[in-house]
Amino acid sequence: MASVNEHFLSLPGNYLFREIAQRVEHFKAAHPGAQLIRLGIGDVTRPLPRAAVEAMQKAAAEMGEASTFRGYGPEQGYGFLRRAILEGDFAPRGIGLSPDEIFVSDGAKSDTGNFGDILGTDNRVGLTDPVYPVYADSNAMAGRAGELQPDGRWSRITYLPCTAENQFIPALPRERVDIVYLCYPNNPTGTTLSRTELQRWVDYALAHDALILYDAAYEAYIREPDVPHSIYEIEGARRCAVEFRSFSKTAGFTGVRCGYTVVPEEVEVSTADGKRVSLNHLWNRRQSTKFNGTSYITQRGAEAVYSPEGRRQTGELIGYYMGNAHHMRSELLRCGLEVYGGTNAPYLWVKTPDGCGSWEFFDRLLRDFHIVCTPGAGFGPSGEGYVRLTAFGTREDCLEAMARLRKGL
Ligand code: MLT
Repeated sequence: MASVNEHFLSLPGNYLFREIAQRVEHFKAAHPGAQLIRLGIGDVTRPLPRAAVEAMQKAAAEMGEASTFRGYGPEQGYGFLRRAILEGDFAPRGIGLSPDEIFVSDGAKSDTGNFGDILGTDNRVGLTDPVYPVYADSNAMAGRAGELQPDGRWSRITYLPCTAENQFIPALPRERVDIVYLCYPNNPTGTTLSRTELQRWVDYALAHDALILYDAAYEAYIREPDVPHSIYEIEGARRCAVEFRSFSKTAGFTGVRCGYTVVPEEVEVSTADGKRVSLNHLWNRRQSTKFNGTSYITQRGAEAVYSPEGRRQTGELIGYYMGNAHHMRSELLRCGLEVYGGTNAPYLWVKTPDGCGSWEFFDRLLRDFHIVCTPGAGFGPSGEGYVRLTAFGTREDCLEAMARLRKGL
């Protein structure tokens, strides 16, 4: 009989957002009349930018003509999109990359989850806590996390707490870590790192031969000038960091699926016998074996995001969600709650009142206000005592949710 990858058996029963979806379905079944407002999973609600829609319609029409039809594309992404990314996201910030360092994919979730395929299972992993659950779960699946302990921590993961006490700025690890995941603007806390703070991390990685896996899926939401949009704005990062980007939150592509990963040529990892190998070549090998590329239609849609109209339209989308965030933040503060994030990110990290547990407050918001949030504890032990609210709802829903809370809290 075939045997199982035992590491899967030590995972918590459900992926966080699946667990929430199930609880919400049960609630809906029991309360069919409830007008639920979903501020849980960070899923966008505005339609796609017109420029992307038109580009995808045109690309779909090309696929229907013999003269312009395309079959398999390059696994790493079409040149037109890789160049648009370089010129649109990096060149204006003075970052020089080559198209071969960009790998187009179906999103940052897949890439952050899959990247571990090319990294040894004996690496010691450092995670900020709370953290996007994909990093912890995918390392557990690979056998890098050890055992899940009763306090919700994995035995072989080094946790870097981000709490109100340290202004959500993780301290450098005291023990050896080989791989560190950083996500800024942060999911779930909505907080950021300044240039100086990020430089500390790059210096740490260079000094300790560690690898930084930097998730910048929310960079388009940055409003303040001292917050880096890319880790490659930081001196030395090209030698120690991989960066993940996504069109999901920038351009409403959660249902279309497109993202990309930057793997600079200089980033290396070591072999068992102490040689150094290029991560870029390994990721290329992994992608060309296991991935057949993002669809041509999708990549044309993503390319259009960089056109002048695309930029204007995505700017409007982001402005809309940040308008929600601004309103939510001020209303939650007026309710007397302690609130973080929402300034450079579409997430608000809210301290639960009266020492209420995360899941308890999740239940209370659902039961009494018909509002769905995400319990902070689902993102890691340091998330206990918080919930996350997303600003990706419709304006009407955000206004209504805040009005309900103002009235009832
Ligand atoms: C979230 O709610 O954290 C995100 O939607 C998850 C994701 O992007 O996969």
